[in-house]
Amino acid sequence: MYEPTDQASTATEYPAGSQIRESDWHILAGFWHPVAFSSDLADGPVASKLLDVDLVVYRTSEGAAVARDLCVHRGSKLSRGWMSDDGACIVCPYHGLHYDRSGQCTWIPANDPDSPPPAKTMRLISYLAAERYGIVWACMKPEPLRPLPEWPHLDEFGPEWLRIQIPKGTWAATASRHCENFNDIAHISWVHMKTFGNRARPVVPDYTLEQTDYGLYMALPYIEVERGFNDDLGEREREVFYRHHLTYPFATDLRVDYYEDDGESFVTSHFFDIGSPVSARTTDIYQVSLTNIPGATVEDYAEYQLVTNSEDIVIVESQRPENVPLNLAAETHIRADRLSVRYRRDLVEMFGLGAPEMVA
Ligand code: FES
Ligand SMILES: [Fe+2]
Repeated sequence: MYEPTDQASTATEYPAGSQIRESDWHILAGFWHPVAFSSDLADGPVASKLLDVDLVVYRTSEGAAVARDLCVHRGSKLSRGWMSDDGACIVCPYHGLHYDRSGQCTWIPANDPDSPPPAKTMRLISYLAAERYGIVWACMKPEPLRPLPEWPHLDEFGPEWLRIQIPKGTWAATASRHCENFNDIAHISWVHMKTFGNRARPVVPDYTLEQTDYGLYMALPYIEVERGFNDDLGEREREVFYRHHLTYPFATDLRVDYYEDDGESFVTSHFFDIGSPVSARTTDIYQVSLTNIPGATVEDYAEYQLVTNSEDIVIVESQRPENVPLNLAAETHIRADRLSVRYRRDLVEMFGLGAPEMVA
């Protein structure tokens, strides 16, 4: 019914009731994560959730902003508000308080116009925000542990490239299970039989795996089956080359190259995939692609990607335990798992995730 009198603010940093262990939460809060597509902000503020914290994402005339979805006056949801006519402030829908990009309250409409301006302490709980690659990113600590992924080709691309933004999906799985799946090669021949998987070619070659300053790099060939998803080409094999650039903790640029049937046209597609940890076992999936496949359309490409995702979702949502075991002895690994083994080890050794509970 009531918060106790010794409770100064209900907005603690670590959200009450989170299923993310507190030590892991503070580490994950130090990374950049997507909280909205830029295009989502066209009609005003939107609600988002990151690491169990309800957020409002808005864009002022000075740029994108991310804050707790909580007006400091009477706790109304700012995501139900709108932007001021001059575009400088988000407006709370309850009593009209205005907040600028930094979260500072700039106007209390109910006060006499001659009143002093709102106190400097009257401000939202705001987070670092950045807009890049058509995505708004947030970091909930003042100093990010790592920079944003470095994907310059997604900032600037020529007219021969088609950019495709895949509709955002939400998976009932941890961000790390999603990330491992996106970078898992051995599953392709088993899971992707509606799309490009080739059951006749299950052997994963001994691939290149390198540690980089952003994460991991893996490169290997695969023989896909081209299924003529939206036409009647039938099935035929196609040799492709995969390059995975995994930026810690959950972002991947998968580059796929192949030659067209004429043996001369060289085709490249990039699949940028970022899992954003909404909560311990819920992940928002942000995907953007670039391709120079001749004649590709946004609609067909997006549909193909959504079918591919649907093949993965049923598997990944079924994995148990839902949390990724960071004790390598807890699951069995095969030779093809070199990337995921390295990934799990790095999450522990580089960032301290999965630290044992302190026993009092
Ligand atoms: S609750 Fe936001 S203005 Fe009063
Ligand atoms: Fe997959």
